[in-house]
Amino acid sequence: MASFSCILSISLMLLSVVGGEGRDPFACDPKVANTSALPFCRTSLSTVERVKDLIGRLTLQEKVRLLVNNAAGVPWLGIKGYEWWSEALHGVSNVGPGTKFAWPFPAATSFPQVITAAASFNASLWEAIGQVVSDEARAMYNGGTAGLTYWSPNVNIFRDPRWGRGQETPGEDPIVAGRYAAHYVRGLQGTDVNRLKVAACCKHFTAYDLDNWKGMDRFHFNAQVSKQDIEDTFDVPFRMCVKEGNVASVMCSYNQVNGKPTCADPNLLKRTVRGQWHLNGYIVSDCDSVGVFFSNQHYTSTPEEAAAEAIKAGLDLDCGPFLAQHTQDAVNKGLLAEADVNGALVNTLTVQMRLGMFDGEPSAQPYGHLGPKHVCTPAHQNLALQAATQGIVLLKNDGPTLPLSSRRHRTVAVIGPNSNVTVTMIGNYAGIACRYTSPLQGIGKYATTIHQLGCANVACTDDKQFGGAVDAARRADATVLVMGLDQSIEAETVDRTGLLLPGHQQDLVSKVAAASKGPTILVLMSGGPVDVTFAKNDPRVAAILWAGYPGQAGGAAIADILFGTANPGGKLPMTWYPQDYLTNLPMTDMAMRASRSRGYPGRTYRFYKGPVVYPFGYGLSYTQFVHSLARAPKVVSVPVDGHRRGNNTNLSNKAIRVTHARCGKLSVSLDVDVKNVGSMDGTHTLLVFSAPPAGGQWAPHKQLVSFEKVHVPARAQQRVRLNIHVCKLLSVVDSSGIRRIPLGEHSLHVGDVKHPISLRAQTLGIIKT
Ligand SMILES: *[C@@H]1O[C@H](CO)[C@@H](O)[C@H](O)[C@H]1NC(C)=O
Ligand SMILES: *[C@@H]1O[C@H](CO)[C@@H](O)[C@H](O)[C@H]1NC(C)=O
Ligand SMILES: *[C@@H]1O[C@H](CO)[C@@H](O)[C@H](O)[C@H]1NC(C)=O
Ligand SMILES: *[C@@H]1O[C@H](CO)[C@@H](O)[C@H](O)[C@H]1NC(C)=O
Repeated sequence: MASFSCILSISLMLLSVVGGEGRDPFACDPKVANTSALPFCRTSLSTVERVKDLIGRLTLQEKVRLLVNNAAGVPWLGIKGYEWWSEALHGVSNVGPGTKFAWPFPAATSFPQVITAAASFNASLWEAIGQVVSDEARAMYNGGTAGLTYWSPNVNIFRDPRWGRGQETPGEDPIVAGRYAAHYVRGLQGTDVNRLKVAACCKHFTAYDLDNWKGMDRFHFNAQVSKQDIEDTFDVPFRMCVKEGNVASVMCSYNQVNGKPTCADPNLLKRTVRGQWHLNGYIVSDCDSVGVFFSNQHYTSTPEEAAAEAIKAGLDLDCGPFLAQHTQDAVNKGLLAEADVNGALVNTLTVQMRLGMFDGEPSAQPYGHLGPKHVCTPAHQNLALQAATQGIVLLKNDGPTLPLSSRRHRTVAVIGPNSNVTVTMIGNYAGIACRYTSPLQGIGKYATTIHQLGCANVACTDDKQFGGAVDAARRADATVLVMGLDQSIEAETVDRTGLLLPGHQQDLVSKVAAASKGPTILVLMSGGPVDVTFAKNDPRVAAILWAGYPGQAGGAAIADILFGTANPGGKLPMTWYPQDYLTNLPMTDMAMRASRSRGYPGRTYRFYKGPVVYPFGYGLSYTQFVHSLARAPKVVSVPVDGHRRGNNTNLSNKAIRVTHARCGKLSVSLDVDVKNVGSMDGTHTLLVFSAPPAGGQWAPHKQLVSFEKVHVPARAQQRVRLNIHVCKLLSVVDSSGIRRIPLGEHSLHVGDVKHPISLRAQTLGIIKT
C-alpha cells in the first residue's frame, strides 16, 4: 500500500510537471483548510477587504519582510515566499532571480531588442509581442520556474547616443516611447485590470539615461533637469505608461534628480506617479537604490532614516535587502509610522491579489491552462521573425542594388565579426532563445556562402584576418559585411566613448568593398546609432541596412530582406549623429534644448538642428510611396474657460494653458492618401510632425504627433486617418514647466506635404469667483 501510494504520487508529480501544473498555490491552498477559509482567501470579498484582512493579521516583523524583492513567507497564514524580480524586456528573461530556464522550459521566444521593435513603428506588433511574452511567462509560472511580476519595459528617453542601455528603449521620441509603453504593457498585462495576466513595470523613473561616463556613474549621478524638460520629455513615456497603459508598477531609478534620489522624492513618487497619474499598482526601487542613496550618495546619516524617507516618499517595494533590515528600527525610532508600512503593503498585496495569487490553485485560474506546449510555438517564433523583418531599416540602396537575386547572386561572401553571431542578436535583458538563425545561416538559404570573420570580434583590434575577407569578396557575386557592436561595446554599466565603428572595422569595410567583384552591402548590428559617414559616402558600398539586435530569427529576417522576400519598412527611432556632435556635449548635461551661448547643440531631432548621418524617422523601401492630403481642417477652435479675473483679453496671439482649455477629445483629424507608385508591395510608416507657431522660445522645432503603419500593395492607394489630440499633442511646455497651446498657425508635416492649421481660442464665458 505504502509503495503503491509512493508510485502513484511520483507519477502524479510527473504528470503535473508535464502538464505545466508543477506549482503549488502561493497562498490559500484549498487543501489547507484552516488558512484557505480566512477572509483574505475569499474570492467573494472585494480585493480591498481581503488586503485589509491580511494586513490586520501580520506583525510588524512579518510586514517588513514583505517590503523586499525576495519576500519571506508567512507559514502560519499559509503564504509562501515570493521573488518579485523577473524580467521580460523582449521575451521571458533570466536576468532576474525569479525566473529560471529548466526542464520542461529550456527556452523562450527571444524577440528583437526593443530599439529594433520600435523601428517597426507598429503599435499592434508591440502589443502582440507582449501577449506572446506573457503567454510564455504565465506558462513558466504555472510550471514553477518564473514569477508574475516583470520589471519591463524600460521607457527612458534615449537622450544621448552613447548610452549603453539605449538599446533597451523605444528610442528618443517621447510619444513613440509612450505609445510603445502603453501597448507593450497592455500586451503583457491583458485588458482586464482586475485580472492581471502578469504585472508589468515602467522603469526607470526618471531622467535615468547615463550608466558610466568618464568616471561618473549612475549610482552617484545627480541629474540636473529643468521643469520644462521633465514635463515635455522625461515624464511623457511614464505618464502614458501609467495613464494609457494602466501599468501595475513603476520603478524609481538610482540617480538623483535635482539633488534628491528619485526613490526618496515624495514629489516624484507620491505626488506625480500616484497623485496626478493615479498609478494603480506598486512602486519598486531599482536593485538596491535605497542602499545606494544611503551608502553611495550619503543622502541620510542613518540607515533607518533612509528606510523611512523611501517609504514616506511612496516606495512600496525594495529590490534589495535594505528595507527588510532597517524598517523595523525606523518604526521603533519613531521615524516612520506602522501605517506607512501598511500603505506600502496595500499596494504590493493588491497587485498580487489582482494576479490571482491569493485565489488558490493556479491551474484553476484564467491562465491556468498555459504550459510547456505554449512556449516557443511555431506561431511565437514566427512573430519573432516578423518583428525582426518589420524593424530592419534600409539606410542606403544605390542603384538600386537591393534586393539581390538568387539567380544572379549565386555565391555570396559573408564577412564580419557579426556575420555568424547568435547571442549578439538578442542584446541584453534576454533569456535563452528557442533557436537561432544567424546571418550566415539565413543567407545560406538563398545562396552559396563563403564565410570570413575579417576580425576576431567587434573590437577588431588588428587586420590579421583582412586577407581572407578580401579574397572572399573577390570571388563572390555579392558581398555582405555584417559589422557593428555588441554588449562588449554598449551595455548596462558601459556607455560608449564615441560613435564610430570600433577598432579597424571601418578599414575592413573599405578594403573589402574596394576588392569586391559584385555589390557590397553593409549590415549593421547595434543598439545605438553608428557614424557610418564613410560608408554612406563610399560609392563602392552600395547598400546599408541597420538590423539593431534583431532577436533569435534575425539572420532569417536580414536574408529575407537582402533577397527581396520581404520589403523593408523600418524607420530609425533615433537620430544618427556624426562623431563631431559629441565635441561639446558632456553626457552629464541633461538639457534637451540647444544653447547658442554655451555652444551646446541640443538633443534629439526635436531640439538639435545640426548635421546628421541619418535623421530620426529615416528608412527606405524597395518601392516608393507618395502622400497627399485628402482632408484636413484649416482652423480649429479651442474652447477656453473665461478668465477668473473677469476680462478675457485678446487670446489670438498667446498660448493658453492646457488646464484652462476644455480639452475633452478635441482633436484634429487628417485623412492622408498613401499611394504605392513602385512595383513591389510594401509597408509604409506615416509620421506626422507638428511645428508650433514661430516665436515661442520654448518649443521644439518639430514634434512627432502621430504615426501609423500601413500595408499598400504595388500601385494601390490607401487612405489613412490620423487623429491628433489638440491639448496633448499640439501643446508645448513653457520654461516654468506649464503646458500651453500656442494659438496661431501650426504647421503639420507628412513627408513633403505641409499643411498649415490655425488654432483659435473660443471663450466659453466667464467663471465667477
Ligand atoms: C556558425 O554558427 C553556428 C552556430 O553557432 C555554428 O554551428 C557554425 O559552425 C558556424 N559556422 C561557421 C562557418 O563558423
Ligand atoms: C478687457 O480688456 C480689453 C483689452 O485690454 C479692454 O479693451 C476692455 O475694455 C476690457 N474689458 C473689460 C470688461 O474690462
Ligand atoms: C488680437 O490680436 C491679433 C494679433 O495681435 C490682432 O490681429 C487682432 O486684431 C486682435 N483682436 C482684437 C479683438 O483686439
Ligand atoms: C503590424 O504588426 C502585426 C503583427 O505582426 C501585423 O499583423 C501587421 O500586418 C503589421 N502592420 C503593418 C501595417 O505591417
